[in-house]
Amino acid sequence: MPDEKSFHMTPDEFRRHGHAVVDWIADYHSRIESFPVLSQVKPGEIRASLPANPPAQGEPFDALLKDVEKLILPGVTHWQSPNFFAYFPCNASGPGILGDLLSSGLGVQGMLWSTSPASTELETHVLDWLVPMLGLPKKFLSSSTGGGVIQDTASSAALCALLAARERATNYSSNQKGCDGRIVAYASSQTHSSLEKAAMISGIGLRNLRLIEVDDNFAMRPEALARQIEADKLDGLVPCLVCATVGTTSSNAMDPIVEIAKTCRQHSLWLHVDAAMSGTAALCAEFRHLQNGVEFADSYNFNPHKWMFTNFDCNCFWVADRKALIQTLSILPEYLRNQATESGAVIDYRDWHIQLGRRFRSLKLWFVIRHYGVEGLQHHIRRHVQLAQQFADWVRNDARFEVAAPVPLNLVCFRHKGGNAANQTIMDRLNRSGDLFLTHTKLNGKFTLRLCVGQTNTETRHVERAWKRIYEEAANIQNS
Ligand SMILES: Cc1ncc(COP(=O)(O)O)c(C=O)c1O
Repeated sequence: MPDEKSFHMTPDEFRRHGHAVVDWIADYHSRIESFPVLSQVKPGEIRASLPANPPAQGEPFDALLKDVEKLILPGVTHWQSPNFFAYFPCNASGPGILGDLLSSGLGVQGMLWSTSPASTELETHVLDWLVPMLGLPKKFLSSSTGGGVIQDTASSAALCALLAARERATNYSSNQKGCDGRIVAYASSQTHSSLEKAAMISGIGLRNLRLIEVDDNFAMRPEALARQIEADKLDGLVPCLVCATVGTTSSNAMDPIVEIAKTCRQHSLWLHVDAAMSGTAALCAEFRHLQNGVEFADSYNFNPHKWMFTNFDCNCFWVADRKALIQTLSILPEYLRNQATESGAVIDYRDWHIQLGRRFRSLKLWFVIRHYGVEGLQHHIRRHVQLAQQFADWVRNDARFEVAAPVPLNLVCFRHKGGNAANQTIMDRLNRSGDLFLTHTKLNGKFTLRLCVGQTNTETRHVERAWKRIYEEAANIQNS
């Protein structure tokens, strides 16, 4: 049927619309500071503006792009705005976006080496590059006993680490028999909630995840960890993993990895190090001391999608003993069998994570590293840290405010001395104004503001303005 209508976009149409989309993205980034950082829409507002039913006939592409502008943009919180200081960053960059576009253009699914050798080999190569870039131990190299893999998120990395630790501690029997309620894992009370989720999913159970107390700096107390492990062993339980964090989400606390590792070695426990955002700082030699002891880790992960200009999603996860991970997650149905796998000469990344299918994520990471070079990445990390330190100094020098936790890198936890309600009001007013976006945490029961500098295009003037807006709002509450 040669004259049958094709509903597909032709290559020429794709070229034309593709140029328009790239233009739109470039313009969006140029005018991003004109938007309120935190979307100001009310719940349901975006859906109410969309047609109730899908179109029976296809629409011109121009109409789609117009609707992104008109209907979608008001509901976007501008994570890429240089005035975004909330949570942890999720920064993107030109090379990252273009690498992701190419990944979509190639459209490969790299579950096996043979389903796209370049996808697997580039990933292995880039993760090997990152080992010396970040001062990580050689055992994480693919040429050693370990290796790295790109996961979607730090949550998935934590789950994989916990599963492998569970299997190793039970002589690879819990995959077969299930958990018997005796396997326990350890993290600090400040560890990211993804560990709790991992405990739920892995069958270890929330009650068997011990949340160890922290010191005045919100870092895990290693002696409390040692005591808890001893007590659990006396009770006939089976400890399997300790998660240490380099830069907790709440306050950027640094767990003492060297001491924690000692206890792990004594009890043969898997040590997982979660450096989701702060791991990027290890690109700079002067910040590597924050993760002293990483050489003892069984697994380690950080998110280039947080602070290394690689748009979401991209988590780098390394293990010291790849066999333990593969033995935990490998399953080989007949329809996936192939000669390359049988030869044992290749990596099949489907055995290194939860899902089967996988995107060609290493392209964007490769583009970012090649575009910036190590020097460019270090430049921006140092700049962000410097800006945060400058902000912390302004806070310290203003009698109305106090810094609420140590500031090792780019996150400043601070509060107005007027109490919880005052801080909540300051934050709400700032966020409603659209001028910047801040979030909060609670430290020692006190409502605390967090300002994290990590957006790709944040410069001195943005941090200066943030501080100006904060003290203006502080003056407003004092006068009201
Ligand atoms: C220390 C830490 N670990 C894990 C996570 C979870 O990250 P992801 O969204 O990649 O799962 C975060 C997120 O902020 C984090 O700060």
